[in-house]
Amino acid sequence: MDVSAAVNKRSSIRQFRPDSVSDDVLRGLLADASRAPSGGNLQPWRIYVVNGNSMNKLREFLPTQPPLDEPEYDIYPKGLSEPYRTNRFGIGEQMYATLGIEREDKAGRQRQFAHNNDFFGAPAAIFCYVDRQMGLPQWSDLGMFLQTFMLLAVEQGLATCAQEYWSVRHMAISTFLGTPENEMMFCGMSVGYADESALINTLRSERMPLEQWVRFV
Ligand SMILES: Cc1cc2nc3c(=O)[nH]c(=O)nc-3n(C[C@H](O)[C@H](O)[C@H](O)COP(=O)(O)O)c2cc1C
Repeated sequence: MDVSAAVNKRSSIRQFRPDSVSDDVLRGLLADASRAPSGGNLQPWRIYVVNGNSMNKLREFLPTQPPLDEPEYDIYPKGLSEPYRTNRFGIGEQMYATLGIEREDKAGRQRQFAHNNDFFGAPAAIFCYVDRQMGLPQWSDLGMFLQTFMLLAVEQGLATCAQEYWSVRHMAISTFLGTPENEMMFCGMSVGYADESALINTLRSERMPLEQWVRFV
């Protein structure tokens, strides 16, 4: 598979098959993803892997914890302006339309959102942390690492969904993982094999035309 094909094939998968992923495959993906660039080669990503039995344990642990933690960062800016606001609400509308969930069906939307909390059925997850001393440039390095990981996962026939959702359960996750105080969670990511028959996975998110965000000077 070439890079263009992997970029094109990757999408956020929100229903996984239960088939397991081996630790070795994950280790290989993480090692390869660490070829991602980072300013000053700091390699600021700190990754925790939950797979197999530890995923079973996490699934048992989560209901014993408070359902919501105060996130440590703003997932979106307050008072999001256009066109970002439209993009944000657009993907939600597109998702619920794909599933045939009506705008008024608050419970239906809530149910779909709640699948975040079960990793959309994935057998594995990674959590991306960063040392608290790091700033905006290093946070962008995390993104480069994560996208590299996601593309390599596609090449392996795997699928992913990055999940900032976990920032609202960061205390529960950090307790389970036993992360040190100096590390802060950015996001989680569900990893596994896509359920190709699931309606939700037919969602192809939109992108703005180039004219709206590129200017050749
Ligand atoms: C850092 C990050 C966090 C995300 N968090 C979530 C999440 O918590 N739940 C979710 O369903 N999707 C999440 N997404 C997926 C985005 O909604 C998705 O990437 C976007 O709509 C574009 O769709 P695509 O990934 O299918 O191309 C996240 C994506 C990124 C990059």
